[in-house]
Amino acid sequence: MTSSVLETIRRRRSIRKFEYQDIPKETIQDILTAAFFSPSSSNRRPCHFVLVSDKGLIEKLSKARDGSSRFASGAPLVIVVCSDSEIAGRWIEDSSIASIMIQLTATELGLGSCWIQIRDTAHNEEQSGEDYIREVLGIPSTIRVLNMIALGFPAQDRSPHEDDEFMPERVHWEGF
Ligand SMILES: Cc1cc2nc3c(=O)[nH]c(=O)nc-3n(C[C@H](O)[C@H](O)[C@H](O)COP(=O)(O)O)c2cc1C
Repeated sequence: MTSSVLETIRRRRSIRKFEYQDIPKETIQDILTAAFFSPSSSNRRPCHFVLVSDKGLIEKLSKARDGSSRFASGAPLVIVVCSDSEIAGRWIEDSSIASIMIQLTATELGLGSCWIQIRDTAHNEEQSGEDYIREVLGIPSTIRVLNMIALGFPAQDRSPHEDDEFMPERVHWEGF
C-alpha cells in the first residue's frame, strides 16, 4: 500500500547524532502544531512543552540519566514533554501520544529525533530523573515529566523499518 503516513512511520528511526545546524523556526512551529492536535483523554489537553535550545541547559539535561541521555548534548533542540497531572489522570498516555506526534512530524520535515525516558528513572541515588529535570528547568511539582525528545538534522544514516519486522504471531483475530 502507498501511504505517506506509513512511509513516514517506516522512516522514523531513533537518531542520536545531529548536525550542528539550528532548526528553522517554522519547522519548530509545525512540530508544536502537530503536538497540539494530539488526541487526549476526555480532551483534557494536559500537555506542556518546554523547548530548550540553550547549549548550557541542554548539557545539563543530557546529564539527567546515565548513558541513556548523554547523546542529547549534541542536539540543537530538546523538547521536554510534560503534563498537568492535576487535570488529567491519563497524563502518561496523553504525553506519549504528543511525543510520537512530535517524532513523526519531525521525520516528515527531515529531522531526526529520539525519545529519552524521564518518568520513573533515577538521576542518582538521591534524586529521580523527573526531579532533576524539574530543578534544571523550574517546572512546578504538579507538572509531571514524561520524557525529553532530542531533535536535529540527522548526522547518521539509519535504514527505514522493514516489512519483516511485522510479527504475524502477535496478531490475534476474534480472541487471543
Ligand atoms: C518509552 C521509550 C523510552 C525510550 N527511552 C530511551 C532513552 O532513554 N534513551 C535512548 O537513547 N532511547 C530511548 N528510546 C528509543 C528506543 O531505544 C528506540 O525507539 C528503539 O530502540 C527502537 O528503535 P527505533 O526508534 O529506531 O525504531 C525510548 C523509546 C521509547 C518508546
